Parts: sequence; structure tokens; C-alpha cells
Amino acid sequence: MTQDEAKREAARAALKFLQPGEILGVGTGSTVNQFIELLRPHVADIPAAVSSSEASTARLQALGIRVVDLNEAGTLSLYVDGADEVNRHLQLIKGGGGALTREKIIAGAARTFVCIVDESKQVRALGKFPLPVEVIPMARSYVAREMVKLGGSPELRRGFTTDNGNPILDVHGLEILQPLELESRINRIAGVVTVGLFAHRPADLLIVGAASGIRELKAAG
Ligand code: A5P
Repeated sequence: MTQDEAKREAARAALKFLQPGEILGVGTGSTVNQFIELLRPHVADIPAAVSSSEASTARLQALGIRVVDLNEAGTLSLYVDGADEVNRHLQLIKGGGGALTREKIIAGAARTFVCIVDESKQVRALGKFPLPVEVIPMARSYVAREMVKLGGSPELRRGFTTDNGNPILDVHGLEILQPLELESRINRIAGVVTVGLFAHRPADLLIVGAASGIRELKAAG
């Protein structure tokens, strides 16, 4: 099974959580793109979606799904999104696609967050994937210096601005042994918009696509 096929199978397994008549939260990335494609036969059951990026919005609209603002939608029953890394507590690194801020907002506003990944995303400790940090433009250098103090090597994502108009620092070299503490600590730095560490709001259910089959996991206790 290729990595793309594994992503597709994970995406397919998430379809059973769709709740007809409910507004659906939709994330960003190549795994979610497969999920969106698989929504085609279910379009009539989806009154609207809230999307975490302009890219996902365009794909949803191309299927004929109405995309609404989160303020209009209120609490969402289901949010489906991918991840760059996931540990056994279903804490995540996200933001490889740059949509971390809207993703974290929608995850927070959702009752159930189903994360869909291929097995390459499962890790013992988060941090091998560079941790994305979205920053206010004037805070870029300051936040980078603060990341160095935390033991990381920040790198500006060149030629990229988020849908919110901000730059991203990708922070290499962090072995994240205390995700809750690190997320809080980075959140407290002035100028940080969002850190792509989802520890305080982890996924509720992880669906892993693998050659051996689909695995569904809840957070380890
Ligand atoms: C987007 O900003 C990210 O958080 C994605 O959810 C994450 O990068 C996973 O992307 P893939 O499904 O493309 O691996």
C-alpha cells in the first residue's frame, strides 16, 4: 500500500462519523484532500462546512458544499483533520501546510476531533517534524530568539504567508517531552499567534491507515 492509499483508507474510515444535517469542520492537507473527495456521495447530507484554509474551502465549494464562517456555525459536532506527528496521547504537531491557527480554533470549537493519518505520522516523542509557529510579522526575530532559548533552531518558512497574512517559523531540534508545558510556554511569548502543538486540545480519535489495515485509537490513559 502506498502512503497515498494509506491516507485514503484513513479518510474513508472517517466517513462513518459524519452526522447528516450537521455542519462539518474540515481541516487542511493531502489526507484531508482525500477526505473531501470522498465526501462527494454525501454532499446532500452536509448543510455546510467550516474550513481551516482557503485551499480546503475551494475544494469543498467545487463539490457544491457551502462554506460558512465559524461564528455562524457555533459548536461543531465533528472536525476531521490530518497531522504531521501524533503521539500515543493523541497530542499533535500540525501546521506543515500552514493552516495551524484556523485548525486550532476549529478543533477547539468541535465536540469531536477525528484525526486521520498514515502510520508514518505516529511517533514516540513529538518534535522530529519542525514545530510551526505563526507569528505577527514584527515579532519574527524576537520569537526566533525565544525559540533558541527553548533549545530549538528556528527557520523562517521562505516565500510563505498564512491565510492570516503572517509568517511561520519552523522550529527544528526540539524533543518535546512535556507537550502541555511547551505549548503553554510558547503561547505566552508576545507576538506568537499560534504554535502548531496541539496538546491542550488533542484529537479525540485517531484513525491510522496502514498496509496491515485501519487502526482506530483513543488517547492512552
Ligand atoms: C496543515 O496546516 C496541517 O496541519 C496538516 O493537517 C498536516 O500538515 C497534515 O498534512 P498531510 O495530510 O498533507 O500530511
